[in-house]
Amino acid sequence: MTRIAVVEGDGIGHEVIPVARDVLALLHPEYEFFPVDVGYSRWEATGCPCADQDIAALKSADAILFGAITTPPMKDYQSVVLRIRKSLDLYANLRPIRGDGFDIMIVRENTEGLYSGIEESSPDRATTLRVVSRKGTGRIARMAIRLAKERDGLLTIGHKANVIKSDVFFRDICRTEAEAAGIAWNDKFIDALSLDLLQHPGNYHVVVTTNMFGDILSDVAAYLVGGLGLVPSANIGDEYALFEPVHGSAPDIAGQNTANPIAAVRSAAMLLEYLGDDLGAARIEAAIRSLVTRGICTRDLCGSYGTREFGDALLTELAKTP
Ligand code: NAD
Ligand code: IPM
Ligand code: MN
Repeated sequence: MTRIAVVEGDGIGHEVIPVARDVLALLHPEYEFFPVDVGYSRWEATGCPCADQDIAALKSADAILFGAITTPPMKDYQSVVLRIRKSLDLYANLRPIRGDGFDIMIVRENTEGLYSGIEESSPDRATTLRVVSRKGTGRIARMAIRLAKERDGLLTIGHKANVIKSDVFFRDICRTEAEAAGIAWNDKFIDALSLDLLQHPGNYHVVVTTNMFGDILSDVAAYLVGGLGLVPSANIGDEYALFEPVHGSAPDIAGQNTANPIAAVRSAAMLLEYLGDDLGAARIEAAIRSLVTRGICTRDLCGSYGTREFGDALLTELAKTP
């Protein structure tokens, strides 16, 4: 029995995740889904955003479908998303950006860098330790190299080695791994890369970078495909995997039935690929494309469909295209 943990989270997570879940349930009626309630609203209600039992429940699943969690404006609050990524050692954050003439995979290191959590604040100074380890860099580099090989594509290393010593370290390890693997690679400073990616997306295949740069680059790259409502992600480790849209809880549009569920549905498609159902993933992508090219889409893509109405249209489309 395949068991999927479902975390709606907060905000539009409550709107987009039910659509993604319904799509999975349609393609795989044999899957068992179980909810895990973590996040800001859970914290408001109980004072605890995520307990040890919740982490255990997530670990018990074959895969996790995740919405988004609001970060409350509090100084000492520990991000639930980061806690889950670290507890499950989900070290690779894969963020595909696909459109006409380009097919890019952003491979974001997901456990260290500026997200080390090693921080100090005093009245006069605050510091965050940027950790780039040999182990952390080696494994993300090898993941990116594997993806570049699969696609027969170029590996681009994004860094700021002109300024930051830890990025000299990151670049050199990635370079050594790429040379050892015999793949084509180049490297670029992350600032120049960010603009060039928008201007010449066809020149990029797999981009590997550190945690915070990958966070920013993936939101920037969403511009190429019509915005955050479209970009999915996979958080992969050696034992566990979690699939979530790149976007957050979008409090500005939450509860309005206007959020685009495509990023969440595409995340569900990545979950299917992870579980070995490439055909199911391809069916989902084809159905999305068929709807969007006919103008069946949400407001962010200039359509008039609500989140749920688009979801229903997608289910109908999937049901008629086996
Ligand atoms: P956001 O991604 O939630 O929203 C940015 C903008 O994009 C907003 O204008 C929003 O309306 C729009 N948008 C996002 N998703 C959309 C969709 N599916 N359809 C249409 N429009 C969409 O980023 P933010 O506003 O900076 O953050 C809001 C909250 O989400 C914060 O608390 C942040 O910490 C959290 N967040 C959580 C995650 C996560 O849980 N994985 C990811 C990013 C942000
Ligand atoms: C993302 C988000 C998270 C991140 C936040 C909510 C912790 O922005 O998944 O892109 O910074 O990784
Ligand atoms: Mn982000």
